[in-house]
Amino acid sequence: MPCRIDAAAPDRTPSAASPLPEPLAWIDGEIDALRAAGLERPARVRAGRQAGEVSLDGRTLLNFGANNYLGYAGDVRLTKAASKGSCAEGFGAGASPLVSGHSLAHQQLERVIAALLDVEAALVFPSGFAANTATIAALVGPDDFIASDERNHASIIDGCRLSRARVGIYPHRDLAALEALLAGAGTARRRLIVSDTLFSMDGTIAPLAGLSDLARKHAAMLLVDEAHATGVFGQRGSGLVEETATADGVHVRVGTLSKALGASGGFVAGNAKLIHWLRHTARAWIFSTAHPPGVAAAATRAIGLLAEEPDRRRDLLARAADFRITLQRRGLDSGDAESQIVPVLVGAPQAAVALADHLAEEGFFVPAIRPPSVPHGRSLVRVSLSWLHEPHDLHRLAEALARHAT
Ligand SMILES: Cc1ncc(COP(=O)(O)O)c(C=O)c1O
Repeated sequence: MPCRIDAAAPDRTPSAASPLPEPLAWIDGEIDALRAAGLERPARVRAGRQAGEVSLDGRTLLNFGANNYLGYAGDVRLTKAASKGSCAEGFGAGASPLVSGHSLAHQQLERVIAALLDVEAALVFPSGFAANTATIAALVGPDDFIASDERNHASIIDGCRLSRARVGIYPHRDLAALEALLAGAGTARRRLIVSDTLFSMDGTIAPLAGLSDLARKHAAMLLVDEAHATGVFGQRGSGLVEETATADGVHVRVGTLSKALGASGGFVAGNAKLIHWLRHTARAWIFSTAHPPGVAAAATRAIGLLAEEPDRRRDLLARAADFRITLQRRGLDSGDAESQIVPVLVGAPQAAVALADHLAEEGFFVPAIRPPSVPHGRSLVRVSLSWLHEPHDLHRLAEALARHAT
């Protein structure tokens, strides 16, 4: 039957009497529930450079809320390197690395990362998150088994899910439980152990020698994420694998350029075969635009600074050790923290928010960390130390924490 254009179209305007449900209306209820549980998240706006102080929503606070461990995020030397790199190669990468986005600046960055880690090759991703998800899914699939520490970062968790491998979660740093999981992996085609080296919310360190022993014993691959250790640990500043001399037993090293290195982007490093495989299979590398060449140039400059300024990481770790002892003496609970990340555990999300608010009133930005970033019952405020902090800043913060958290 021919279509009649003169027929009156049915009236689809919702009447006031029976409004159509708004498809996103369910979100209101979910947000109300988050608010009631103390889990609603603020959207803060920062003005100016990230440094020892930070201006958030118009308030200037001492900044204990960034992963700017060495103070390079606001360093003008990185800005200059980025600007020079952008002038040479343009600001946008314009395409994925596989097509035409892989610039000379990216090639140079991959070379300096490989040299820093003393491995054959490296591959740069738009973010550390992308590096983890893409790499895990490129190494294992539905016929395989992954053993993952219960406190691993969200990007590792999502990589495990994306891979569709069977996943066994072991209690935090529990090698006996990990061994039992590996022994029960049955007929899995491949086995992969995944772990942060420095856990981002706890400040704890993975038992790397034990992990690599178990990987060897059970013919498993070992992937470690050095996101918070890169630039901070190790003689050259390459991370905890270097610090613990476990490179021979670690097959895949993921890191980020966005924390101590003050730039942006992630990387995977290892032998040439691994990197060659990832170039064919890591979907976030193949199907996402390369990060800007100027950013790659800034990251290269930051890696150069690791060699020029080794005192920064030494000072940072020494001050962090003193700070942890001070908190302990004052009866504060930092769990098993052993790094520049120092949590103060309070339990309930509302208590973490209240403590963060008190600290802000005294001039300190120390973020409240709540589920899903930490398990229920383990809400905390997370103190991220930076080389930019003076010892008297740390002393004042310890005093304020002792006043409000105990
Ligand atoms: C352990 C860990 N891995 C990976 C990432 C992701 O890195 P990026 O911020 O470069 O995406 C983070 C970021 O918070 C992290 O804490």
